Amino acid sequence: MSKKVRTAVFPVAGLGTRFLPATKAMPKEMLTVVDRPLIQYAVDEAREAGIEHFIFITGRNKGVIEDHFDRQFELEATLEQRGKTQALAELQADLPVAGQASFTRQQEPLGLGHAVWCARDIVGNEPFALLLPDMLIKAKPGALKQMMQAYEAKGGNIIAVEEVDPNDVSSYGIVGRGDGEDKAFSINGMVEKPKIQDAPSNLIISGRYILQPEIFKLLSSHTKGAGGEIQITDAMQKLLKEQDFTGVKFAGTTYDCGSKIGFLAANVAYALDRDDIKDDFEKELLKIINEKK
Ligand code: UTP
Repeated sequence: MSKKVRTAVFPVAGLGTRFLPATKAMPKEMLTVVDRPLIQYAVDEAREAGIEHFIFITGRNKGVIEDHFDRQFELEATLEQRGKTQALAELQADLPVAGQASFTRQQEPLGLGHAVWCARDIVGNEPFALLLPDMLIKAKPGALKQMMQAYEAKGGNIIAVEEVDPNDVSSYGIVGRGDGEDKAFSINGMVEKPKIQDAPSNLIISGRYILQPEIFKLLSSHTKGAGGEIQITDAMQKLLKEQDFTGVKFAGTTYDCGSKIGFLAANVAYALDRDDIKDDFEKELLKIINEKK
């Protein structure tokens, strides 16, 4: 039986240059979709999948992420005084239990692969989940939970994938598809941001992974790849020579909230799914659209 995945890594040390000036002083991962920061959605997804330990790779200007996962006594006391017991209970439910969260720093944003490598000593010799919080995945059950089902059946390394327009492949990490059904197929190749003619498929790596700890040794060479950054895809490509990788075409929708369009679309989709605001929001949205016609 495969070793249980108990730990999740959240790299949050990037500069978020596509979202300036919003991300000049505020971390991209704290951008809100309706009323929850992106990082909270990622933690919720991990918790739903059975994760017990949350590791955040932070950097300069990211202290507010640590504060977000801490208690705020003044706020809690005020909510209590005002009888806002439900809001208080919801805030407390969002928090990891004491000792469940670890924070470490990536002193320089050298790339996603480097950020993951920074977690090596905290993760230890265990399989771990990796979630990119700016890739918000709206899915029921959550994408990581769907991947856990494939992991229980196959073990090894698991990557969540989805189809994109073949003309867009050069913006993403792409996998090659081998045998197996959509929910668990074998991956026979990977490439980061390929030219259209070199892409093995139109299946993109969508920001959720379950990886074996051997990836850390491969990341330790600090080899730079696409865009001059240390890429996780390059290390996974090497690991593919030694271990199995399974692709999971999950049921759900990804919003790339590191891009403006993805972020705005996510806000619309999540707001229209919220019982408390959907009717009023839909009216406002239709008014704006009709005025623009
Ligand atoms: P992105 O490439 O989307 O983030 O990385 P970025 O570099 O911050 O964004 P742009 O392209 O400049 O707008 C995906 C995730 O990996 C983290 C980011 O914080 C994000 O959550 N990351 C990226 C790191 O933690 N360290 C890095 O060196 C790079």
